[in-house]
Amino acid sequence: MAGLAYHLTTFGCQMNVHDSQRIEGLLESLGYEEVAEASLADLILLNTCSIRESADRRLATQLGNAKRFKAARPGVVIGVGGCWAQSLKDEVFARYPFVDVAFGPGQVDQLGAFLLSDSLTAQGYFEFEGFTADLPMRAKQTAAAWMQISVGCNQRCSYCIVPSTRGLERSRPLEDLVAEAERLVSRGAREITLLGQNVNSYGRDLRPQRRSFAELLVAVDAVDGIDRLRYMSPHPQDIGAEVIAAHVELESLCEHIHLPLQSGSSKILKAMRRTYNRERYLERVAMIREAVPEISLTTDIIVGFPGESEEDFQQTLSLAEQVKFDAAYTFCYSPRRGTEAAGIAERVVSPELASERIGRLIEVVQRSAHQRAQRFVGHRVEVLVEGHSRTNLERLRGRTRHNKAVNFDGIAEPGELIEVEIDRASSASLGGRATLVASATR
Ligand code: 5AD
Ligand code: SF4
Repeated sequence: MAGLAYHLTTFGCQMNVHDSQRIEGLLESLGYEEVAEASLADLILLNTCSIRESADRRLATQLGNAKRFKAARPGVVIGVGGCWAQSLKDEVFARYPFVDVAFGPGQVDQLGAFLLSDSLTAQGYFEFEGFTADLPMRAKQTAAAWMQISVGCNQRCSYCIVPSTRGLERSRPLEDLVAEAERLVSRGAREITLLGQNVNSYGRDLRPQRRSFAELLVAVDAVDGIDRLRYMSPHPQDIGAEVIAAHVELESLCEHIHLPLQSGSSKILKAMRRTYNRERYLERVAMIREAVPEISLTTDIIVGFPGESEEDFQQTLSLAEQVKFDAAYTFCYSPRRGTEAAGIAERVVSPELASERIGRLIEVVQRSAHQRAQRFVGHRVEVLVEGHSRTNLERLRGRTRHNKAVNFDGIAEPGELIEVEIDRASSASLGGRATLVASATR
């Protein structure tokens, strides 16, 4: 069966063209195929630019088209990335409620995570020949690689289409994953992100020998030449002491956990069938922070789930205030065919109200992200160099172990790990200059 089709339109400068190549590589590695017409695509992406009004006008036309295509085929997913999306981040969903995902420059990887976690997986793009086949390589190999560790999901989140159509979780054998990590490293990868719907339940289905996610972390960390290891996403129900301890013990395992919350209201969490409540989530956060105090915590939150009252939403806001996330991906609830929640007809939250709530939530999240980012100012951090800065070609760009994007002055090649002294920090990125010291501290 053919994979899902995508159509990507790129606006603006060379940097966007470069980013679009990365997006294409990412999509192709996930099994998507490019189509010439947006009207035929399952995934319509616009990599936007905010520099000129003409780009705005062209974008408005493209968005209008995308909206029409989606009206004709409701399963179509619309994503907006790039500078315009970044500059309008608080308003994108309010102004264009048909947009499913928005991401700024430098967050291309988040698009991958969204696509893997969301309903799209259901529609059959993981058409790999079993697990023995290699994942298709990105068009361009970069120092940061992805590795699919499992498909399917054993959870039954009521808003999510993945379990109903992708079936139960199937893990790839640990030996295959280690071999693949070795291959990736031999081709230049220094960082590997392990991907799965619920990475913590990895390996429970493997026979004759069951495996655990912590075991997999240990095995991949031991691969010669791997500098950084990440994973996405754990389920708050399952992230346990062993995995948290791995963050302390394994040198390559980065100081960042993406822990999807979805809602701060125990009532809504129950309706979502998330199998944890507000208190349990907070306990997990406390456990993580006790082990690794400076760790970055990011999350996914859905607003406007059916039955979400103002009081429930306040619970989400207060939890976000309390935890102080380093970043959060916020989504307006959208009913997906065949899911339990799509059948709920009572107390549906209007798109306008959901947009208004998401705006309030983004404000809280950005405030905490900004505050949290200040802890890096005045410190030297290790940066994996990605290329030129998007806004200033004389500067470079990379990512820290805490998963913060960094723009900095200095001379370095993509794929190098260098040390950068941070002199400013915002909710979205850090700024600084490369030091002359060869190896970076962690
Ligand atoms: N509506 C809105 N957001 C959703 N997500 C998954 N399904 C839906 C849905 N039906 C979000 C969740 C998940 C993220 C990748 O996508 O927050 O963690
Ligand atoms: Fe969907 Fe929940 Fe499984 Fe994530 S854990 S894929 S949200 S059912």
